[in-house]
Amino acid sequence: MKKIGVLTSGGDSPGMNAAIRAVVRKAIYHDLEVYGIYGGYSGLITGNIKKLELGSVGDIIHRGGTMLQSARCLEFKTREGQQKGIEQLKAHGIEGLVVIGGDGSYRGAKALTEQGYPCVGVPGTIDNDIPGTEFTIGFDTALNTVIDAIDKIRDTATSHERTFIIEVMGRDAGDIALWAGLAGGAETILIPEENYDMQEIAARLRKGHERGKKHSIIVIAEGVYGAVDFAKNLEEASDYETRVSVLGHIQRGGSPTVQDRVLASRLGARAVELLMEGKGGRAVGIEKNRLVDYDIIEALAKKHTLDLNIYKLSQELSI
Ligand code: F6P
Repeated sequence: MKKIGVLTSGGDSPGMNAAIRAVVRKAIYHDLEVYGIYGGYSGLITGNIKKLELGSVGDIIHRGGTMLQSARCLEFKTREGQQKGIEQLKAHGIEGLVVIGGDGSYRGAKALTEQGYPCVGVPGTIDNDIPGTEFTIGFDTALNTVIDAIDKIRDTATSHERTFIIEVMGRDAGDIALWAGLAGGAETILIPEENYDMQEIAARLRKGHERGKKHSIIVIAEGVYGAVDFAKNLEEASDYETRVSVLGHIQRGGSPTVQDRVLASRLGARAVELLMEGKGGRAVGIEKNRLVDYDIIEALAKKHTLDLNIYKLSQELSI
């Protein structure tokens, strides 16, 4: 393999730049040419492709976002869109592609692989919901952003003896809510993977107040229920006044943590190695601090499972 491409797709995540840098530097180190595809799969379809040099990825390791831009591309879900993409890659002489993104991006990489074009998936999403890896690039940074917010909200919650509902990202996966909830000492954590009982939550609140607690923090993943509606129902069930804070897209930005930079560097470089070994159709990941790779089709067929031990632990620690 002499020429490879790299793109970022779907919701961006802090550390994607570090991953792009690793792909480019690793490839050039091994005398490959690297092409950046700008604007995710949309840029692939339209041929927004430029050669990257060592200097193209200078001064980006510490920056959030993605220098290659990203997009959610509906056209690439169609066979015609995918064929246009493959034609562009062939026209530029690009023989393999590194796709950095979440599950939608992996589906695109899977489709290309099934049509005979070698792709390697690198897990980049704050949601931590990609099968075949314990951690995704951006998850740690997003958690630190959420924790910073929870700590600040806790200050004002204590001053006013209030109950706060804090909504975090995660449409289908509760990892951000779970980890940030545990680390932030939340009384209650609500995740899409587990049912909840409003009366039980109200009873917990009352118990806390009775033993003199000055605040209550409830962390809810966006996929569970809108935080505003949840707060209304909780007020009715408990008679406690609530305040709502929806953290939103601040969770997607910011300078990546050390953890995310190192993870991105390791995974990006490994993706290039796989292409050099002639192994397309793979998805890279990390398990027990070791790099792993799976068939991308098999990886997508697996289900991401979050660690319910953390959920149980948070319940035990927040009595
Ligand atoms: O997939 C990452 C994510 O940040 C989800 O947590 C969130 O539901 C979604 O993207 C938001 O997407 P968008 O930025 O397209 O509104």
